[in-house]
Amino acid sequence: MCSAMLLFGIGLVTLLCATDARPSLNYLEDHFTVENESEEVRSAAIKRLLEVFGMDDTPAIHGHKQPPQYMLDLYNTVADVDGVTKDPYLLEGNTVRSFFDKLHSEQVEFRFNLSTVSRAEKILTAELHLFKLRPQATLTFNRHHFCQVSVYQLLNSKSNSTQDKKLLSSRLIPVHSTGWEVFTITQAVRSWMLDEGSNLGLHVVVQTLGGSPMDMKLIRFASGRNHHQSKQPMLVLFTDDGRRSSKPLESTDPNDATSNLPRPLLSSPSSRSVRSVDESEEEGASMSCQRLPLYVDFEEIGWSGWIVSPRGYNAYHCKGSCPFPLGQNMMPTNHATVQSIINALKLIKGIDMPCCVPDKLFSINLLYFDDDENVVLKQYNDMVAGSCGCH
Ligand SMILES: *[C@@H]1O[C@H](CO)[C@@H](O)[C@H](O)[C@H]1NC(C)=O
Ligand SMILES: *[C@@H]1O[C@H](CO)[C@@H](O)[C@H](O)[C@H]1NC(C)=O
Ligand SMILES: *[C@@H]1O[C@H](CO)[C@@H](O)[C@H](O)[C@H]1NC(C)=O
Repeated sequence: MCSAMLLFGIGLVTLLCATDARPSLNYLEDHFTVENESEEVRSAAIKRLLEVFGMDDTPAIHGHKQPPQYMLDLYNTVADVDGVTKDPYLLEGNTVRSFFDKLHSEQVEFRFNLSTVSRAEKILTAELHLFKLRPQATLTFNRHHFCQVSVYQLLNSKSNSTQDKKLLSSRLIPVHSTGWEVFTITQAVRSWMLDEGSNLGLHVVVQTLGGSPMDMKLIRFASGRNHHQSKQPMLVLFTDDGRRSSKPLESTDPNDATSNLPRPLLSSPSSRSVRSVDESEEEGASMSCQRLPLYVDFEEIGWSGWIVSPRGYNAYHCKGSCPFPLGQNMMPTNHATVQSIINALKLIKGIDMPCCVPDKLFSINLLYFDDDENVVLKQYNDMVAGSCGCH
């Protein structure tokens, strides 16, 4: 009974809860093939699932790509093995994007294609990551111990003789150091987002403390052209797409986009599938409302090509009955308590027991390749049922 009511309303998690007989998303897929549901419905379902993950289409990935170590480390800091957010306050926004340099220049010049960043995304911080190589051995005996490294934004020149540029970030770096150097370039990226045509790239200038040009054999940064992929120049963008909400049960909002699932997905006309749902309801009636596993396997959905991590996650589902009297462990709302009393006393005909639904929802993190094969870390709210209650 509960599931029939919920079918219209809530989100992905509830949908899975309501139609679930076996705890796997694969069930949805089997369902379509077994019942010979039209390919249309199946693709509508997959499309809808993509929308839950904020995408229009499955990104096409050509060959095996290695994600940047920085993004892997970031993912492991933010998420546990199942992708569930360890600490919701670690990231300021909900998206981190990485871009490799497209210029592959011999000079210390870089350009990043930001076409995959949506207009709605708020740029919080942008960083240029450069890998500083060890100075060449023959040149290590040098009187300089520090150098001044400055990052400039290249601008449309007003005169045609010299290239205009704007200083973004500058600091002293030890000549003999090696490893990643990070420069903040947020203002430049914000201006590129406003006018794509203004993105002429970045230029890095290295000087002695006295301000004269430094021998570029002494101070070298890895380029995308000559050095190992793991040392490629990279732009890291911390953004927020505005999807994060502080409301604990956001998806119960009837206006929420996640409630518009196609009807055929929710109930099948075939007697066979109806029977299987009934059976699971009968067996569910004997147990009280509780949280049970529901594994969403990205490989089974055919998404393992573009999702780096996790391979899947446990969304959990809520199942069981909510009979009178509702204990505090059922976390009943006052409304549910009153409804269970009316139901038990049969005061009014046709009043069901309250429903066993997610009470608390957690976010998960996805590390994936976008359309342009950039690696993105994104947080999605309300994806895992943390606990169940009678509502
Ligand atoms: C079942 O699917 C096949 C192939 O998609 C189609 O040709 C056939 O008409 C379908 N049968 C029914 C009863 O819908
Ligand atoms: C950026 O990438 C998109 C998609 O790959 C491409 O269509 C566009 O031409 C690129 N822009 C530049 C300036 O290279
Ligand atoms: C600048 O460009 C214009 C036209 O493109 C040209 O007529 C002019 O001579 C150029 N000036 C210099 C200083 O190169």
